[in-house]
Amino acid sequence: MKLSETQRNAWRITVDYTNMTDKYLGDKGISQRELDAHRKLARAAHAYVSENRGKDELFMGWTELPYNQTEIVEDILKTAKEIRKKFDYFVVLGIGGSALGPIMAFNALCHLHYNDLPKSKRRGPKFYVEDNVDPVRMKELLDVIDVRKTCFNVISKSGATSETMTQYLIIADLLKAAGEDVKDHVVFTTDASRGNLVKISKELGGVKSFVLGDGVGGRFSELSPVGLLPAAVLGIDIKTLLKGAAYMDKLCRRPDLKKNPALVSALLQYISMQNGKNIGVLMPYSDNLKFVSDWYAQLWAESLGKNETLSGEKCNVGQTPVKALGVTDQHSQVQLYTEGPFDKVVTFLSVGEYKEKFPIPHGCENIPDVGFLGGHTMEELIQAENRATAFALTKAGRLNYTINLPVVNEFTLGQLLYFFELQTAYAGAMFNINTFNQPGVEAGKKATFALLGKPGYEGQKAELAGAAPDENYII
Ligand code: PA5
Repeated sequence: MKLSETQRNAWRITVDYTNMTDKYLGDKGISQRELDAHRKLARAAHAYVSENRGKDELFMGWTELPYNQTEIVEDILKTAKEIRKKFDYFVVLGIGGSALGPIMAFNALCHLHYNDLPKSKRRGPKFYVEDNVDPVRMKELLDVIDVRKTCFNVISKSGATSETMTQYLIIADLLKAAGEDVKDHVVFTTDASRGNLVKISKELGGVKSFVLGDGVGGRFSELSPVGLLPAAVLGIDIKTLLKGAAYMDKLCRRPDLKKNPALVSALLQYISMQNGKNIGVLMPYSDNLKFVSDWYAQLWAESLGKNETLSGEKCNVGQTPVKALGVTDQHSQVQLYTEGPFDKVVTFLSVGEYKEKFPIPHGCENIPDVGFLGGHTMEELIQAENRATAFALTKAGRLNYTINLPVVNEFTLGQLLYFFELQTAYAGAMFNINTFNQPGVEAGKKATFALLGKPGYEGQKAELAGAAPDENYII
């Protein structure tokens, strides 16, 4: 998509933090004095991210993804075109950072009932992301696809993730049983040289593969081939997605809190966490943005949930992300947000102009409870409910702020992803933690290896046997 400067600026996403301030929340809000007291910390966080951007050894390669993929993007577009021509189904096998981005982009930028549309109305094959090892889900996926007409995008940086590799073993076996050449049905997205998928590719005689660079961790990989290939297969304009990210990057190069949306957002969250706001609710008022919350939950939780600073001091930091959807969760969780403990920050994702307005017809004029709705649009209703919820929370002294997307498209989604990635990097720098590792995830992975008999984990197997359930506590 060609975008003029005027168009870019009209589609700029903004952060409105009015309802975080003491001016509107009284003593429950953040004061100018508090912001000023943290100005130096914010500058230092900005400087840390700016100075280390692109450094693979610090896992900050993701900052450069909007700029350094020209050839890769062309290869992705060519591959996507071939996949669209050849296959009826496209299935991503991956988990965590190798799945949540593709799910998010699919839901944000494709028809909400994409797979139910007739082929002529879809821009690509039917799309599924298998990010679990529930055997029922595996079996039932196989009930709705034909493996002979399916391309499987196996996404795993390590190629050692039990879940993804289990799925791979199953589909490879099925393809062989169907008389197909596995190589013709898989595309790998993996590490350049070290991962097991590299070895498997060699064994199969050279599988079409895309590289997930050394400096790009799973949860920061949506703008790499991890997210770009599935998006391109779906007909999403990946060049514009990257342009959106670059646009946000440019805005956030500015160290001034007043001018850098990701920096101000990170600081507001940081101050809130220091004040005991241990829960961060992300509440998009848009079904298209529903799965941004799942992607963000991993980014925020895995990056900030740490027990040690970079200087080796003990700490237990982080904020529990909660996924909510406007307006749906107004009818379930908002009661708690308004009257429960003062332990949350609510972030709304608001949309200026929806793809559809959908007029509400007149009718039931003699029933005032219903009649007043006629003549409005559904867009007006959802926006009014968004505004009303923010108002109610503010009146109840609850911290909340809004990220405004003028529209939902590739350009604004690219901005939003990069915004959240930067916000996370800034917040991690403020806490002086390693934002990009995940040692806490490893313990469970290792215990699973031990339980299933992976060589080298015999000691842990014995330890697990000793940790069997105690009969005294089972009723
Ligand atoms: O963010 C992360 O690093 C994780 O969520 C990984 O993406 C996830 O564990 C999958 O790992 P891999 O890509 O090695 O299969």
